Amino acid sequence: MTASKTYPVPEAIKSSTHLNAATYAEMYTRSIEEPEAFWAQSATMLEWYKQPTKIKNTHFGKNEVSIKWFEDGQLNASYNCIDRHLANNAKKVAFHWEGDSPEDSLDVTYQEVHYEVCKLANALKEMGVAKGDRVAIYMPMVPEAAYAMLACARIGAVHSVIFGGFSPNAIADRINDSKAKVVITADEGRRAGRSIPLKANVDKALANDACPSITHVVVHKLTGGDVDWNEKHDVWWHDAVEDCSGQCEPEVMNAEDPLFILYTSGSTGTPKGVVHTTGGYLLYSAMTFKYAFDYQEDDIYWCTADVGWITGHSYMVYGPMVNAATQVFFEGVPTYPDVKRIAQVVEKYKVNSLYTAPTAIRALMAHGDKPAEGCDLSSLRILGTVGEPINPEAWDWYHRVIGESRCPIIDTWWQTETGGHMILPLPGATSLKPGSATRPFFGIQPALFDADGNELEGEAEGNLVIKDSWPAQARTVYGDHERFINTYFSAYEGVYFTGDGARRDEDDYFWITGRVDDVLNVSGHRLGTAEIESALVAHAKVAEAAVVGFPHDIKGQGIYVYVTPNEGVVADEALTKELKAWVRQELSPIATPDMIQWSDGLPKTRSGKIMRRILRKIAANEHDQLGDTSTLADPSVVDTLIAERLNK
Ligand code: WTA
Repeated sequence: MTASKTYPVPEAIKSSTHLNAATYAEMYTRSIEEPEAFWAQSATMLEWYKQPTKIKNTHFGKNEVSIKWFEDGQLNASYNCIDRHLANNAKKVAFHWEGDSPEDSLDVTYQEVHYEVCKLANALKEMGVAKGDRVAIYMPMVPEAAYAMLACARIGAVHSVIFGGFSPNAIADRINDSKAKVVITADEGRRAGRSIPLKANVDKALANDACPSITHVVVHKLTGGDVDWNEKHDVWWHDAVEDCSGQCEPEVMNAEDPLFILYTSGSTGTPKGVVHTTGGYLLYSAMTFKYAFDYQEDDIYWCTADVGWITGHSYMVYGPMVNAATQVFFEGVPTYPDVKRIAQVVEKYKVNSLYTAPTAIRALMAHGDKPAEGCDLSSLRILGTVGEPINPEAWDWYHRVIGESRCPIIDTWWQTETGGHMILPLPGATSLKPGSATRPFFGIQPALFDADGNELEGEAEGNLVIKDSWPAQARTVYGDHERFINTYFSAYEGVYFTGDGARRDEDDYFWITGRVDDVLNVSGHRLGTAEIESALVAHAKVAEAAVVGFPHDIKGQGIYVYVTPNEGVVADEALTKELKAWVRQELSPIATPDMIQWSDGLPKTRSGKIMRRILRKIAANEHDQLGDTSTLADPSVVDTLIAERLNK
């Protein structure tokens, strides 16, 4: 393999940074050799009611996994994100909210966040929400989404944010799995000029008493659009908080008390409720934020994610707010009203660090240099990416057109389960190679294993595992610790298995090659093939369905579906449309199949297992590389699938 181009740390960053190559190396070594001392010292970044004295108590095993950090410490996440800043930073802007329409914007200070969060926290208490209770949040990208999360954290309730793009069934499943008492939503959301019927989706999820645990639906009036009203449990946010005090004493939480649940897709079955706890998660998200973006006190930081995903939790709420950062909080999409929106918002707020997804970069890149034309991007110092591998073309475009060949690109590899960044370059310390997430963060020990469980040394490619625990690691799957162990700790003894493949090069840089399981990454959104398949087979005309990913220029991966219709069903264009609409409605618009191929049969082994490897090759138009098909029950099925393939 030829050596790729390397970009050294820019001079401008060197002079402002927290770290350089030598201090990174020194701190990394200490974090591995003396984890207790390293993390005890790091923990002083937070304000504790009771400083932890027990730092790390973790065990990874095939039969038993137990993860505790700072277990005798006491703190409150909302206090750390808000109250502790009031002495010096009360008037500092927490959110420059920028609406879907460029005409809408609003600045909110830390003082105002405190007031809004306290009022809602008191209102939730009045509704009977107590420490440990779950609250579902199904919100558009307005500051109220962050207030809702922080209000839960303030009273010790466990929030479960449901991405605003999910459909009623997906909402109901998530509410029922966590037995949430309250759901907080808005009348409607807005996206690229269209309205999203959030309240109506919640109504459908709750219809026919489908979610019996819910006692209240709190509705933020955003657009003023028409909504149906159910006197039994609906309450307007503004009515609920009207008589509530703007002061609410934060609940004293143990470091290991759960902070939130976030559902994410896996290889099999329904989405898993990943549980994060208070102390370790908060510290790690705050610390990675500070170092990844070389955060300086007066920086303006902008992450374009949605609070419905882990990026929105760690790098729009908890991480930046512990640091008292000023953020742009964006309701819209990068291409609305046109492809200059990102650059215009950067110019408007003089953004210093911008954190976005490769899929957004590829969508803009399709328009050449136009997305930046005539815009002043000179405030930018650091660019970040997250969610999927970034291809070198997209990296170059981002670097040249948005970063004006001046800003380092911080390619952050991590997962919902890891809580925060795991492998990433640090601005002042790491030379960059386009497409590589580079080196591990403090305390992270990545390793590569082969399929037989042998650790691979030196330059190698294999399955990516992490050898020891870190503070923000997920503690369990809500209500199913065995599933947690089976999913992440049963593949290899004594290590956390990420589900990703990776390569390590001659400089010990890591290159993430993508999922090695049946998880898809569509536009940076994580989807399980099993979820899409189960939505499809729930349709009356579908006998069997198999879902695979295929390379897609903008989305990274597209969704390719093989469907066997029921006997007597006419498989035509109309049914293709119907099935696409069905998946949108059953699961989410983000799960809409790109291609649906009809097939009378699927390639199966003699024991009846679908050979997805073959389906993936056909979907990728790489049917000349099918490999061994001799174990198939009926090899002729494959010839038909190849002849009728849709991606040519
Ligand atoms: C993928 C998102 C390559 C990876 C934070 C991982 C990446 C999954 C990167 C987690 C990256 C995330 N380079 N791949 N920089 N970041 N991924 O849980 O496959 O939504 O396992 O968390 O996204 O997706 P999740």
